[in-house]
Amino acid sequence: MRHFLNLADADADAIAAMLADALDRKKARKDWPKGKVDEDSPLADHVLAMVFEKSSTRTRVSFDMAMRQLGGSAIVLDSSNTQLGRGETIADTARVLSRMADAIMLRTDDHEKAQTMSNHADVPVINGLTDLSHPCQIVADLLTIIEHGKALPGLQIAWLGDGNNVLNSIVEAAGLFKSDVRIGVPPGYEPDQGFCDAARSKGATIRLTHDAVEAVQGADVVVTDTWVSMGQADSKAKLAAMAPYQVNEALMAHAKDDALFLHCLPAHRGEEVTDAVIDSKASAVWDEAENRIHAQKSVLRWVFGQI
Ligand code: CP
Ligand code: NVA
Repeated sequence: MRHFLNLADADADAIAAMLADALDRKKARKDWPKGKVDEDSPLADHVLAMVFEKSSTRTRVSFDMAMRQLGGSAIVLDSSNTQLGRGETIADTARVLSRMADAIMLRTDDHEKAQTMSNHADVPVINGLTDLSHPCQIVADLLTIIEHGKALPGLQIAWLGDGNNVLNSIVEAAGLFKSDVRIGVPPGYEPDQGFCDAARSKGATIRLTHDAVEAVQGADVVVTDTWVSMGQADSKAKLAAMAPYQVNEALMAHAKDDALFLHCLPAHRGEEVTDAVIDSKASAVWDEAENRIHAQKSVLRWVFGQI
């Protein structure tokens, strides 16, 4: 049984194969209507149950479109409208959904819940974001980086702002592909220590700094995300601490001339990123958002043993 709770559930070769598959499939359906099924219809007759305990636009639509394009279908369960929201356990929900669907995607708060879901499911479970990590997003980010002609080994990635779930998965990816991540965060907002240690032990360079310019200096890719993730307290103190890490034109000027800007979205324009950067030529955020579909298709094919 293959679950995809973190990138490390697959090895570097498997992630590289997912990326190659995503690129091929994306190319093969260029200019097709978005709902048209891929010629080989590899997930025909398969149904994905998607459980959302937090809001979503991209994850929800990209997984639904991914299943359609692979010839299958998806069912969305918002926890507020399900028995999960009234106290049915994750374990029992996992048992029931395993009898009714071929795979489960879960977006939730505590990563332990995703773990529990996978422990009790008889079908693959995919992490559609937890407070700890967001691996599906990072498959799309890697795809976007490669499509823009950059190689992953030795790639210099700068992260600015909050040391959150998205950063943890970037750090994990750096461990798989031996990239270099320079993290510019205020004191107290560092990423998960376990993810950093694991990536370093695999040969990645993970450097933390409180100096935004130092983080961005010479970067190939500059990445940021909301300063306040879903479920976090929106405190004035946190916003003030984050202010020096805003990605604006002055900061981008310290990255390489051909540096890419990435953001998983939704963006808070004027907070973590300015309009001038997110709407600039360097910004690949719309490719990145579209790539959620192509990346999720490969994740789905991988959990079903097709990659
Ligand atoms: N990037 C991302 O996961 O977006 P959603 O919250 O809209 O799914
Ligand atoms: N870090 C953000 C990502 C949203 C896609 C959050 O968890 O809210």
